[in-house]
Amino acid sequence: MTAPSPFAELLIAWQKTAGRHDLPWQKTRDPYRIWLSEIMLQQTQVSTVIPYYQRFLASFPDVRALAAAPVESVMAHWAGLGYYARARNLHRCAQQVVAEHSGIFPASAAQLETLPGIGRSTAAAVAAFAFSARAAILDGNVKRVLCRQFAVPGFPGAAKVHQQLWELAESLLPDSDIEAYTQGLMDLGAGTCTRSRPACQRCPVAAGCLARQQGRQTALPEARPRAAVPERTATFVLIRDGQRLLLERRPPSGLWGGLLVPPEGAVDNVLARLGLQAVSQQPLAPLRHAFTHFRLTLEPVLCEVQAPQLLAEPGLEWVELAQAAQAAVPAPIGKLLRQVASAAD
Ligand code: ADE
Repeated sequence: MTAPSPFAELLIAWQKTAGRHDLPWQKTRDPYRIWLSEIMLQQTQVSTVIPYYQRFLASFPDVRALAAAPVESVMAHWAGLGYYARARNLHRCAQQVVAEHSGIFPASAAQLETLPGIGRSTAAAVAAFAFSARAAILDGNVKRVLCRQFAVPGFPGAAKVHQQLWELAESLLPDSDIEAYTQGLMDLGAGTCTRSRPACQRCPVAAGCLARQQGRQTALPEARPRAAVPERTATFVLIRDGQRLLLERRPPSGLWGGLLVPPEGAVDNVLARLGLQAVSQQPLAPLRHAFTHFRLTLEPVLCEVQAPQLLAEPGLEWVELAQAAQAAVPAPIGKLLRQVASAAD
């Protein structure tokens, strides 16, 4: 037997004295109940899960009852918990346990993982809690705990980092007290080593925490690397006739759909398209605007025209320069129009 890691030892001792012991699924070794709780607890908080868990067990007390139930009834018991694929897989899993395992859940993480809806971490949690199997969990909370304790660099969603975290999780497993260890990891992640403002002063493994030593608790785990956002440039022609400005309504779909915007395009093209001639042209300072998926540099050009003709084409509107920014214009265009209006004052 190898010496247990100090991390595991400290966590086990802490879980026994300061961890959670009264959650409904902690009072049983029944793999059916433990499996149900672990599926419900994926992406869902304990306080939300408890009443669902109790109602579910009242209606489906064991795996045979669940397997025999109509899927509609299972879905009805899940309504409000979200991530409904979990409920469909739950039902399929129950049917498979009945059909292929005589209604008895397999006792190893490797076998549990072959069942519908049971991933590697959930298989390990069920195997540990129901059968004291020595198996490593790695959910979002545990990733955060490990990334901080061992200052693991990189985004945990990246394949390489994910692989390293699994290896780390395996290497830390104690030889005994796997239930307290597994629950301790969950308790620490949920209540102490929280995403923002971790409570390091009451953390049992703070002394060995590399993130804490480096003052990087909230910098770890690292965020998903930002995808480079494409840069776009667009010319907007501010066609002015005295105190009036010409705006054009955008097509209903696409960027700024349905809003009023100065005509977009190269100055000569825009003037030709509208049948106008400019008396003067003046490029204005470019303006940058960040959209979700790209960044736009707006290059405004102010064109003075004398437009005795009213341009009664559909989609075109002359607006008073002083009021233009209050029209149904997008935010960056509003900013631009306010600058032009104040420069004209
Ligand atoms: N989250 C996932 N599994 C859990 C468990 N067994 N107890 C508390 N929270 C959990």
